[in-house]
Amino acid sequence: MKVIVTASYDETCRVIAEMIAGLVNEKPDCKLGLATGGTPVPIYKKLIEMNKAGKVDFSKVRTVNLDEYCGIPGTHDQSYRYFMNTNLFDHINIDKANTFVANGMGDFEANARELEEKVREGGVADLQLLGIGNNGHIAFNEASDHLISVAHIEHLTESTIDANARFFEKREDVPTMAITMGMGDIMAAKKVVLAATGLAKVPAIKGLIMDDVITTQNPSTMLKMHSDAVIVIDKELAGAVGYQA
Ligand code: F6R
Repeated sequence: MKVIVTASYDETCRVIAEMIAGLVNEKPDCKLGLATGGTPVPIYKKLIEMNKAGKVDFSKVRTVNLDEYCGIPGTHDQSYRYFMNTNLFDHINIDKANTFVANGMGDFEANARELEEKVREGGVADLQLLGIGNNGHIAFNEASDHLISVAHIEHLTESTIDANARFFEKREDVPTMAITMGMGDIMAAKKVVLAATGLAKVPAIKGLIMDDVITTQNPSTMLKMHSDAVIVIDKELAGAVGYQA
């Protein structure tokens, strides 16, 4: 696992956007695993700027997203399909037919199986972008006494519902279940890049980069077993967990 410490969160986003653009330039039909949440928004903004400036071409890129809430359609403004369209896909020259976000409506189990197929279709992701939950969750693989390797339905913890309530009008509106890639799906990606910022992430990042323990109680610690995992944090977060480059 490689840890990169940047001067600021803006710098974290620049480093990761350049990593993604570099991969796309090297392999125009690459497969990207994408994430939602607050963390990747400025990364996507930078990719949009680079695309508009002619520095990166997404016309052949394929994408699969980590997860989607159960019970809200892709047209709902808090669905992850809507998030991806409005924060990235609508603003770059990607073919939306080459983008996949699990369907959050209908038969959830069948939708999870479809996500699993998309994870494998045409080969695994060349790069999987990740955020991290305050409790160490990766995608929606919540801290538990066991983790599931393949795409599945997950019941969100109170901590995750609390953290995501900021995006909804009322806490009761936050869906309590999600379809998510499993930990095995994420570990299968050729490269994983995790971005984190903010003091709420201190316990999760401490477990990830400051000790040698791998535990299902902090799912992110599984990334210690990945051969090409890159963790990008700013110096404020690095300082708060006591990490020295
Ligand atoms: C989103 C996802 C989640 C988030 C995590 C952090 O697709 O898989 O694991 O990455 O909840 O969210 P933010 O970035 O909002 O702190």
